[in-house]
Amino acid sequence: MKITVIGTGYVGLVTGACLAEQGNHVFCLDLNQEKIDILNAGGVPIYEPGLKEIIERNLAYGRLIFSTDVSAAVAYGDIQFIAVGTPPSEDGSADLSYVLEAARQIGRHMNRFKVVVNKSTVPVGTADKVTEVIAQELLNRSLPSENFSVISNPEFLKEGAAIEDFMRPDRIVIGSQANAAGFAAKEMMRQLYAPFNRHHERTYYMDVRSAELTKYAANAMLATRISFMNEIANLADVLGADIESVRQGIGSDTRIGYSFLYAGTGYGGSCFPKDVSALAKIAEHHGQELKLIKAVEEVNEYQKNILVKKIINRYGKDLAGKTFCLWGLAFKPNTDDMREAPSRVVIRNLLMRGAQIKAHDPVAMHEARLAINGDMSDCTELLEDLSFHEDPLDAAQGADALLIMTEWKSFRSPDFHTLKQALAAPVIFDGRNIYDPQLIIDQGFEYEGIGRKAFQEPSYLPELFILKNQIMNQASQIVSDA
Ligand code: UDX
Repeated sequence: MKITVIGTGYVGLVTGACLAEQGNHVFCLDLNQEKIDILNAGGVPIYEPGLKEIIERNLAYGRLIFSTDVSAAVAYGDIQFIAVGTPPSEDGSADLSYVLEAARQIGRHMNRFKVVVNKSTVPVGTADKVTEVIAQELLNRSLPSENFSVISNPEFLKEGAAIEDFMRPDRIVIGSQANAAGFAAKEMMRQLYAPFNRHHERTYYMDVRSAELTKYAANAMLATRISFMNEIANLADVLGADIESVRQGIGSDTRIGYSFLYAGTGYGGSCFPKDVSALAKIAEHHGQELKLIKAVEEVNEYQKNILVKKIINRYGKDLAGKTFCLWGLAFKPNTDDMREAPSRVVIRNLLMRGAQIKAHDPVAMHEARLAINGDMSDCTELLEDLSFHEDPLDAAQGADALLIMTEWKSFRSPDFHTLKQALAAPVIFDGRNIYDPQLIIDQGFEYEGIGRKAFQEPSYLPELFILKNQIMNQASQIVSDA
C-alpha cells in the first residue's frame, strides 16, 4: 500500500518505519528541513532502540521517503496518517492547531479518495473537526466532499519499546464513520493491519468517538494505578510496611494484575501528564468534573517532590554545602526523553535550596541539558552548581548521597564497594525502588526507598556481603564474557 505519514515526531517516525518494514511504501512528511536531512542521511533525531536499523534498511529498499514537499506527500498515499504534535495549551487542553493544519493541507492538495487517519492523541470530537476542515477545503476547490473518510487509530506505543509494541500490539483500535466512505476506509485499514493479526485478531472496530476516548481512558487508568500505588507507598512509609510486598500481594489477584503498580517519583513523559490533564479538560468542556482524574494529577505533582521531602527531613531545608549525585535523568529507561521527567523537578528544587548536583544518565544528558537550561532560565546562575558526568562513579565522587531517578538496567548492580568509596557519605535515596533495601543496608549504606521497609541495622557482617558481591560480580563477568 502507499502511505503518507504527516509528522516525523516520535509516533510518526515509528509508524512510518514499521509500516515500511511490513512492505508498504511510506512517504514521511515534515516541515522541518533539518530533521528531514538527518533522516535522509540515515540518522534518527530521537533515541528509540531498533528504529535506526529499520529506517536504514527501508531507505535502502526505497520503501521510505523523507521530504518537506507537502503536495507530493498528499498526492502519494492512499492512506494519510496525521501524526503531528498536540502539545498542551496553557489551560491543559490539547492544542489542535497542527492537526487541523495537516487536515487543511490534505484538503488543499488531495486528488483522489483518501483515508485520513488521526494517529495523534486528540480530544474526543477531533475527527469531526478534521472532517469539517477537509470538506471545507474541497468545497473551496469545488470538489465533492464525500471523497475521503476520517479514521481514529490511536497509538499505544511505549517509549523504549515502541518497535515491539507496534509490531506485536496488544490491540489495534480503529474508529470509523458509519457511511459508505467510512466502510471503504475501514476496509482499507483492515488490509493495512492484516499482517499484525496473523495469529489472532487484535483489532477492535468501533465508532470514531469511542476510539478517541479509548486512548485517553487507557492512559488515565494506567496513571491512576501509578498515583494509587504512590499514595499507598507513602502510607507504607509512615506505617512501616513494605510497598513491594504489598504490590505482590495485590498483584496476585488476577483482577488487579502486576503491571503498572510500581511506586516511584511519579509518572512523566509525553503522554500521561498531557493526556490526563486533557481528559479533565474535555470533561470540563462538556460540563463534567472528573474528580478522580484531578486527584491522580495532584498526587503525581506531590510525588515528583517526594525525594526532596525525604532529603529535607534528613538534612533540613537549607542544602547549601551539600552535594547530591543523580543517576538517571530521562523520565524512564531506554529513552532520552526529558519531557515532564521528575528529575527536572528534583534538580530545580535542590539547586534552589543551595545544593550542588552531579548528574549522570546513559543517553539523556544532551536532552537534559537543554530541558534544565529552560527550567532554570529565571535563575541561570544556579546552573554553575550542576555538572554532568559520562561516568556514573565520577558523578558519585564526593557526593553526600546518591539519588536514583530512572531505573536504567546499568544502575541495578553497581560495584557497591567502589560506589561506597566514591561517595562522601554512604546514603542512597532510591526513587525507583531498584534495590533490595536490606542488601544495600547490609553493605553499609543508609537507604531510603519509596515505601520500602528495611531493618536499618546490617543483618550480616558487611565484609561477608562485600565478599559475596565480589564473587557474584566475577561470576556474572565470566558468564557475559562467555
Ligand atoms: C505511555 C503508555 O504506556 C502508552 O501506551 C502510550 O501510548 C503513551 O504513554 P510511555 O509514556 O512511553 O507510554 O511510558 P510508560 O512506560 O507507560 O511510563 C510512563 C511513566 O509512568 C514513566 O514515567 C514511568 O516511570 C511511570 N511508571 C510506569 C511508574 O511510575 N510506575 C509504573 O508501575 C509504571
